[in-house]
Amino acid sequence: MAVGDVNSESGPRWQEEELTSSGSSNLERELSSLKESEELFRLLVESSPVGAYLIQDFKFVYVNPTFAELFGYKPEEIVNRLGPLDLVHPDDRRKVEENVRKRLQGEAETVRYTARGVRKDGTVIVGEIFGQRATFRGRPAAVGSLVDLTEKLRLLESLKESEERYRSMFQSIKDAIVTVDADAQVVDWNKGAERLFGYAREEILGQPFIRLVSERYRGKLLAAFRRAAESGDVRLLEEFAEIEGVRRNGTEFAAEMSIACWKGREGLRFTGIIRDVTERKEAFARLERLLEEVVFAFSAAVETRDPYTARHQANVAALARAIAAEMGLPEKVVKGVYFGGLLHDVGKLSIPTEILSKPTPLTPTERALVEQHTLKGYEILKRVNFPWPVAEMALQHHERVDGSGYPRGLKGDEIILEARILAVADVVEAISHHRPYRPARGTTQALRELEEHRGVLYDPRVVDACLSLFREKGFRFETEAEV
Ligand SMILES: [Fe+2]
Repeated sequence: MAVGDVNSESGPRWQEEELTSSGSSNLERELSSLKESEELFRLLVESSPVGAYLIQDFKFVYVNPTFAELFGYKPEEIVNRLGPLDLVHPDDRRKVEENVRKRLQGEAETVRYTARGVRKDGTVIVGEIFGQRATFRGRPAAVGSLVDLTEKLRLLESLKESEERYRSMFQSIKDAIVTVDADAQVVDWNKGAERLFGYAREEILGQPFIRLVSERYRGKLLAAFRRAAESGDVRLLEEFAEIEGVRRNGTEFAAEMSIACWKGREGLRFTGIIRDVTERKEAFARLERLLEEVVFAFSAAVETRDPYTARHQANVAALARAIAAEMGLPEKVVKGVYFGGLLHDVGKLSIPTEILSKPTPLTPTERALVEQHTLKGYEILKRVNFPWPVAEMALQHHERVDGSGYPRGLKGDEIILEARILAVADVVEAISHHRPYRPARGTTQALRELEEHRGVLYDPRVVDACLSLFREKGFRFETEAEV
């Protein structure tokens, strides 16, 4: 029998009370106030987002709409038709039965437990039950509320799963993963870090991370870290992507580091992934040496056709590299002009040896043919995928800043910087050394030529660097001209 059926006007009465009042007006007042309070509780219970129930004789005598909805029913499908055990997962039946029984038999005043329920459609939910012993219509009853934990548990479960996934990755990854707090102290340390740096986790936790990097980075890195910790801007640490690490035994190693910043419960955290790149760097250096040897051999092979210009390219390469370094240009440009220097005249392969070693001045036709070496060199070199503009350097090394050069008559910045450097190195080398049609004129003469045409034929910055190299830094070609 549904609660509403018991007393359709006043709704459920939670406690049977005997009303004893002497006067009828008092009785009426009390009745009316009782009705009001019943109305209030009914409203509260019916609109509660928490499921509420009342059990007697192991049957639901009342359930609120939320309770019914949690199980996928309407209240009238449950009340006086189903008992708690009908809605419980078979594995939890004993537990629920026991908890209801205890209250009905007066063994327990209150109970609190979780149990799995089965919805009308068969899906399983998890609820937390807060139950109480009660008396309804003079007989023992169990009342309580039910909170649906299904979603919360699912969320917790997926959080736990992702935490586990992260933990297992964190520990199994070969790279070192180090987390530090805003005070630059290590707060997390994986096995990879243990292997790479040689410190056990318990040994390093709470220690300043700065001891893990080479001394020469410490000051700068710490200053940048403090700025990053204040602003939360991890980009301030980008320049430390390549760094030297220090192991527990004091040995240093080349490391690559990427850093992420995140907000933990206890404040800002920085997590760095650090990788030992010694082997990779060594392999790269070996490959670069190999490339240099091959290019050098090729460069020398080109020059065997023309004994007068032997070592010309090697000399130009060495001077161009020194000029680029003197100008403070990036390592990539310094290396680029070196390789460009070694190969800038490969186009001469296509010029007949008689013309190359002709002891008398060239005819206009012969000169035009010689000038072709820039284009031919470009054609040969453009097929090689160098990390530097080597083919362009070969093409442009006879261009002049005022546009008087060849093959295209480019001016100023139209000529790539590397070619402007090669032009200066080329002309200094050529004047300094012996040529078939003239004896060597020496470096002094060569430098005078530079000064004379500084800013006209040659880039003034390049000229200045070259002059400073010879006059102040004592630069000399490996094969000095006999003057
Ligand atoms: Fe040339």
